[in-house]
Amino acid sequence: MTLRAGIVGCGGISRAHATAYANLDGVTLSALCDVSSAALNARAEEFEVSAGYADYEEMFEKEELDVVSVCTHAPLHGPVALAAARRGINVLCEKPLSVDLESADEMVGACSAAGVRLAVSHQYRFTPLFREAKAWIDAGRLGELRTVRELGKGRPAGFELMEMGVHYFDEMDLFLGGIDWVHAQVTFEGRDVGVEEIMTSAELCPIDRRDNGMVAGDTMVIHVKGQNGGNGVLELYQREQVQGWMMGPHILGSEGQLMIRPDPETYVDELWHCPFDVSFPSHTPRWEKVPVDAERFRIGKGLWERRQSIWSVRDMVDSIREDRQPELGGKAALTSLECVFAVYESHFTGARARLPLEERRHPLVRRLGQNA
Ligand SMILES: NC(=O)c1ccc[n+]([C@@H]2O[C@H](COP(=O)([O-])OP(=O)(O)OC[C@H]3O[C@@H](n4cnc5c(N)ncnc54)[C@H](O)[C@@H]3O)[C@@H](O)[C@H]2O)c1
Repeated sequence: MTLRAGIVGCGGISRAHATAYANLDGVTLSALCDVSSAALNARAEEFEVSAGYADYEEMFEKEELDVVSVCTHAPLHGPVALAAARRGINVLCEKPLSVDLESADEMVGACSAAGVRLAVSHQYRFTPLFREAKAWIDAGRLGELRTVRELGKGRPAGFELMEMGVHYFDEMDLFLGGIDWVHAQVTFEGRDVGVEEIMTSAELCPIDRRDNGMVAGDTMVIHVKGQNGGNGVLELYQREQVQGWMMGPHILGSEGQLMIRPDPETYVDELWHCPFDVSFPSHTPRWEKVPVDAERFRIGKGLWERRQSIWSVRDMVDSIREDRQPELGGKAALTSLECVFAVYESHFTGARARLPLEERRHPLVRRLGQNA
């Protein structure tokens, strides 16, 4: 049976989802939706999709879709997912899952009650090199796992946390075998963030069009504790953005290190290994590229050697066919977002914030309310 796919939001990331549906066997990209006719028409022309809508409710009513990719900004992820669930449509939601845990819980609950899948699109973990690194860790080839380290792209930390931070939390969840707790310090212009520094994402990062709700801080250093005993460290510093920024992860064990590093020009990922326990990669002489069979990157006719969304789209499509949950489906969809709010909770309380968080209200919005 051919699955019918739709996309809501025809901006930047929608091209990756459309490309995925166009390249997966047994799926047709049947309908597109955007309030901007320019964005809708451009994507419809590029992928030869004739059914276009300005209203996602109307698209869900008329199109009999099996799956929809939600590619709008984060505040709309919840309303679109709830509308899809009401129509019995499986939902693959772009990250971050939502702008707060209460709406994210509602999404998970509504999709589960409606008997449809809800997954968040963190594509990195599905790629062959991330799987290879995970296999090295699990087989003990790095000795005892010590640290998985990631750096942000340079945007102010509160904004970056919702953009790249959630991807990094997801890869830590993978490499660390689940996340126990988060400890963080958040600063703004050199001072510890207080209630006065809580703002909208547009105020914090006016250069980026995406809306990530309420945020705080230009700098964050975050310690994540893994269930396998390893640590995650995320450093989000505001700095000038550079190409080739996506340097991580750097994985340090007692008997060696790995890094997954995209080529700055092509973004093709490479896996590198160093057989020493030294924490400064630049000071170690023996980094060698790990050969990985090219066929592992094959999906259909193509080789997908970058962190393309096809990897998470394929898991959603396969999960429908195989009658199972997607790997990041159901409650697993919440983990990366929980870490975001654990960061703020930890910063404001000075304590470790354990997952899952008991307090589901937005830690920043709640503190603003108490201060009003
Ligand atoms: N997984 C990844 O690697 C990755 C990469 C980039 C972006 N993203 C995420 O994808 C999401 C979208 O980001 P983007 O860069 O594509 O944004 P974008 O601004 O390029 O596109 C968003 C689109 O949504 C449309 N839209 C707004 N309201 C709508 C409505 N009511 N109905 C239908 N369409 C509507 C806009 O007109 C716009 O075309 C964000 O959550 C972002 O974080 C994920």
